[in-house]
Amino acid sequence: MVELLPSILSADFAHLADEVAAAERGGGTAIHVDMMDGHFVPNITIGPPVVKCLRKVTSLPLDCHLMIENPNEFIPAFAEAGANWVSVHYEACPHLHRSLQLIAHHGMKPGVVLNPATRVELILDILPMVHHVLIMSVNPGFGGQEFIPFSLDKIRRLAELRQELGLAFRIEVDGGVAHDTVARVVQAGADLLVAGNAVFGAGCTEQDARSLLAAARKAANE
Ligand code: DX5
Ligand code: ZN
Repeated sequence: MVELLPSILSADFAHLADEVAAAERGGGTAIHVDMMDGHFVPNITIGPPVVKCLRKVTSLPLDCHLMIENPNEFIPAFAEAGANWVSVHYEACPHLHRSLQLIAHHGMKPGVVLNPATRVELILDILPMVHHVLIMSVNPGFGGQEFIPFSLDKIRRLAELRQELGLAFRIEVDGGVAHDTVARVVQAGADLLVAGNAVFGAGCTEQDARSLLAAARKAANE
């Protein structure tokens, strides 16, 4: 089943609770939260204190995307704050197996993220450990960037591997998911759609979430 994960990076941070509630009314089924440290990516956002506040205003799973160096050091704090899904970048984790184990041992769902230039085949051996694989369809760091078309080939390859290996991990896509790209993303095999600008960018959060999800589900049934 295709799901929409609104990314609060493009929301109004002064009214986060209202923004999350509107995204949920529009059909969002998990909230995507972007953590950036100014080192792994060229931007700084938020961390566990904001996750803790979000935990109080929504019962949806909090999908925490860690774009940070040394993510292992922060995993206990995210668990404590109430994170549900935590994904770490292949490129930031020299001991990826350990990082994924650590997330699972803290009772959260582990995910691995691949930057656009990172090949899907590199994570073959750890696929049985993950709840989701996140394919970045932009270079991480900012909302509102243009979708990178070859991401579709990576989604297709991952969907093939999932079938070949008999696994059930979810395929998540993040970056440039909007009305002009969503059908191709879904038809390539993605089932968790992160969208920031397309949901929060125009100030009509509920309607924009609803229409994007409707377009995704229509494409899934075609
Ligand atoms: C980018 C973040 C995304 C971002 C996507 O580094 O990981 O989650 O919010 O934004 P859009 O949907 O606007 O491309
Ligand atoms: Zn993200």
